[in-house]
Amino acid sequence: MCGIVAYVGPKDAAPILLEGLQRLEYRGYDSAGVAVVEKSAKSLKMRKVKGRVADLAAAVPARFKGTLGIGHTRWATHGVPSDQNAHPHLCADERIAIVHNGIIENADALRQRLEGDGVVFRSETDSEVLSHLIARTSKETDTLEEAVRRALKLVVGTYGIAVIDAERPGEVVVARNGSPIVLGIGEKEMFAASDVAALVRYTRQVVHLEDGELAVLRADGFSTFTSDARETAKEPFTVDWDTGHYDTGGYEHYLLKEISEQPDTVGRTLRGRIDDRFHIAHLGGINMDARESRSFRRVKIIGCGSAYYSGQIGAQLIEELARIPADAEPASEFRYRSPVVEPDTLYVAISQSGETYDTLAAVQELKRKGGRVLGIVNTVGSAIARECDGGVYLHAGPEVSVASTKAFTSTAAAFALLALHLGRVRDLSPADGRRICDGLRRLPEQIKEILTQEEHIRALALKYAHCPGMMFVGRVRGYPVAREGAQKLKEISYVHAEAYPASELKHGPLALINPDMPTVAIVPDDELLDKNLTTLGEIRARSGRILMVGHRTTDQADDCIVVPKNEIELDPILLTIPLQLFAYHAAVALGRDVDKPRNLAKSVTVE
Ligand code: G6P
Repeated sequence: MCGIVAYVGPKDAAPILLEGLQRLEYRGYDSAGVAVVEKSAKSLKMRKVKGRVADLAAAVPARFKGTLGIGHTRWATHGVPSDQNAHPHLCADERIAIVHNGIIENADALRQRLEGDGVVFRSETDSEVLSHLIARTSKETDTLEEAVRRALKLVVGTYGIAVIDAERPGEVVVARNGSPIVLGIGEKEMFAASDVAALVRYTRQVVHLEDGELAVLRADGFSTFTSDARETAKEPFTVDWDTGHYDTGGYEHYLLKEISEQPDTVGRTLRGRIDDRFHIAHLGGINMDARESRSFRRVKIIGCGSAYYSGQIGAQLIEELARIPADAEPASEFRYRSPVVEPDTLYVAISQSGETYDTLAAVQELKRKGGRVLGIVNTVGSAIARECDGGVYLHAGPEVSVASTKAFTSTAAAFALLALHLGRVRDLSPADGRRICDGLRRLPEQIKEILTQEEHIRALALKYAHCPGMMFVGRVRGYPVAREGAQKLKEISYVHAEAYPASELKHGPLALINPDMPTVAIVPDDELLDKNLTTLGEIRARSGRILMVGHRTTDQADDCIVVPKNEIELDPILLTIPLQLFAYHAAVALGRDVDKPRNLAKSVTVE
């Protein structure tokens, strides 16, 4: 989704901004732009285009000099993708330029008022009101910082913004409310971005702005302020992700790289957290002692997209291992239905990016109502991580491809640790604790084993990719796996895919079964095996083709993918991996833009 980059220092800003924007491409966008200010001439230059960052780079002339600048990738919300609607946006005399992430909710009213005063708008965006408002408030005050502060007071909505003014060519002002802004500290230069991905090539020293904060960046440093102009003290934080994490590392796509990394990333999620003496999990970040961990009577898990499906696996793990009623719900639904927040419920928010607006808003709502919220988050220091009372970091490294893979499996592994913890402070026996600890430790090797079947899975993907649609079914532990499998297939290959609990098939979707609608059946060797095999029989009796993913082969299916067996509670993590490879190869076979599927964004930072 929208991305921001800003620079001030001794160097030529444009190449730095373009490089930063390239690093943000993975988030999904439809247009891009940059503006720079040349100090001596006090003049502002801007280029913006509908299309890719490469198109923007081609449109930037050789003489586009300036040591201060801002850049943006836009994901259309108000107004179609076009050159005019791309950011930056200028004020009337083209002195001030802004880039904005988020949504200005009272944009229509502000626009009407400004138009009434004679302002001519050049775009259909909500963001453009900001450049005109700042141009006005800058007439009332001497500093850009105060002008931005006053303008933001008039605005209702969410924003991450960066502002430059040709008359003040030594500084960039940034501010955040609901949309992330990170400052990057360099040697006699400063950066800002909406995502550390844009900064790691230049610096690992970063500072996260809080909601309501504003910062002034100059080549020799920065100052941060609250919305009422009180200066705040910020501790820089060292990011341990580097540019290597953002390269494809010789793979054709980020998605394949991230699928292949899973033995390592799941290993990193587990590292140092399994205690062999007492067969418990060490989760220092949850900030709860044993007594508190025992006090919860329910667990409610929230997240969006794949994070939500991994939460369903988490709920199952918690119910099985800790015997606490647990369920998962899309964060977007949860926040809008005015949820009853109970004091003895533990809330768990899941997010790879730590930025998803619906999840963040749900966490904030929970906090307002006094709920206890843990985060299972990949991005250290992200908004959701900071908002929670404690949590578990995945340590899976940055996930670049829009479709989530390694964050999904790491989240499921983190849930196994949390379930082990909650179980062992209750009634889970040491023997069962040991069984789970041993099972967790086997996961990385078993994932490697599954990855060696890539050719077989690719051949199956080629066989099924051209079907008009596919059904995914699973029972209990297999159901979230089926949902995630269908999600992967539809989001990257655009093949219609529907997931159903296997037992529900005969209550409706069985009507869809025919030779053109094959079924992917998740059939682990557990106590439900016979029931699942019966379902396969029902599908075959309607001439349905079946691809079974499980722990054995069977004549009931046309094709089988056999994965190594772990403990029944942990099997869902392994059963997910072949479905990722299946979706990947189907998408490649259909010629899709695998890493940046149409209409989707990596981090959905708007409602
Ligand atoms: C977007 C992505 C999904 C992701 C979801 C939640 O919709 O396309 O792949 O699962 O957001 O993202 P999060 O960063 O909160 O895990």
